[in-house]
Amino acid sequence: MDFSTPGKLRLTCAHGQADLLRDELLSYGIEVDHVDATGIECTGSLSEAMRLNVLSRIAIRVLYLLESFSCDHPDRLYENASAFEWETVIPADGYLTITSTVKHPSIDNTMFANLRLKDAIVDRIRSVSGKRPDTGPRRSGIVVHLHWHGDHAMIWLDTSGEKLSDRGYRRMPHRAPLRETLAAAILRHSGYDGTAPLVVPMCGSGTLAIEAALMATGRPPGLLRNTFAFQQVLGFDKDAWADIRRELKPRKSRHARHRPPPIIASDIDPAAIAATRQNAETAGVSHLIDIHTCDFADTPMPDNPGHIILHPEYGLRLGCATDLRTTYARMGDFFKQNCQGWSGWIFTGNLELAKAVGLRTSCRLPMRHADVDARLLGYELWSGKHPKTHASPQVET
Ligand SMILES: C[S@@+](CC[C@H](N)C(=O)[O-])C[C@H]1O[C@@H](n2cnc3c(N)ncnc32)[C@H](O)[C@@H]1O
Repeated sequence: MDFSTPGKLRLTCAHGQADLLRDELLSYGIEVDHVDATGIECTGSLSEAMRLNVLSRIAIRVLYLLESFSCDHPDRLYENASAFEWETVIPADGYLTITSTVKHPSIDNTMFANLRLKDAIVDRIRSVSGKRPDTGPRRSGIVVHLHWHGDHAMIWLDTSGEKLSDRGYRRMPHRAPLRETLAAAILRHSGYDGTAPLVVPMCGSGTLAIEAALMATGRPPGLLRNTFAFQQVLGFDKDAWADIRRELKPRKSRHARHRPPPIIASDIDPAAIAATRQNAETAGVSHLIDIHTCDFADTPMPDNPGHIILHPEYGLRLGCATDLRTTYARMGDFFKQNCQGWSGWIFTGNLELAKAVGLRTSCRLPMRHADVDARLLGYELWSGKHPKTHASPQVET
């Protein structure tokens, strides 16, 4: 495949994060053609897809459009897909995974659509080369995604393979960790850009603090990962990939000199602190995070105000709601007494408990955490001086 041929790229993201993703692409000078609930689309080649896999903090996958056609029956899917030159994309001795989202009356089990597409690809490659790729569920080879809604089908190459939220640094997940892309989205919504201090009490496995350290030092998250599905595509150019990684690597000298404003993480549980230390070490940012084992209210605060983000338990699967009511009330007291002048944020999946905080919210951003309907609640804790914030306008009233 020619990695320089322009095509259509789709970057998928968590529900509700597409505006942030659009802003992220605009910041790289990439024009966005389309935004919907779960992603954005833009024009770009496979080489650009490689860069975006490394750069994006918000995207979950980067897809490249291979084929688009009208499709009213599984036989049309087979015919159209077998006319495509798969032998230029997939090594005959490679490994293939098919994923799909299908909404068509002729299909009551998406596995059937996947099977028809797999047969079309495998039959085509066998007829050309006499060999066929292995197929299965692993995302370690070529990943092809079918999107068939109504009478229109699109076949995408999933250039990421494993989700981009799996950055590779979280070897110790601890309890109820945030997905890395969600942590990055929370930081962006809070206005964090690495120019003011950040305090993360209740840090758990350290995801917010680690993502912040990566942002503050301009380290693209994809540099932490070695494997992406595009590396398996025929025509993949190892040297061009090495050049992209070299170019996106922050310069050593500038990097060594630049120490961002303090990033402080704390948790009451020593196991959480061990996980934060280990994960920050793996991510190469442990020297940028001050880590403390303590109750959230005892977290040492820097002199200059910045952003403080709490992610407490919700009492749904973890913890007990009655005890947590006291914790949430104490969080409100802590904000009032210790965080004047700060931009305060609580991320929670329990809106009943959130009422116990007892402070007026300045914004309430709907988000999803795993299957939980969550909110990022913003609080202006005025004291005369306050840091720069630019919470997203996507505010629930
Ligand atoms: C939902 S988890 C945070 C997960 C984290 N955002 C991550 O990505 O891993 C909540 C954390 O709050 C901590 N915690 C609970 N009560 C606390 C308290 N009073 N003071 C400090 N930390 C507390 C727990 O130990 C737990 O690690």
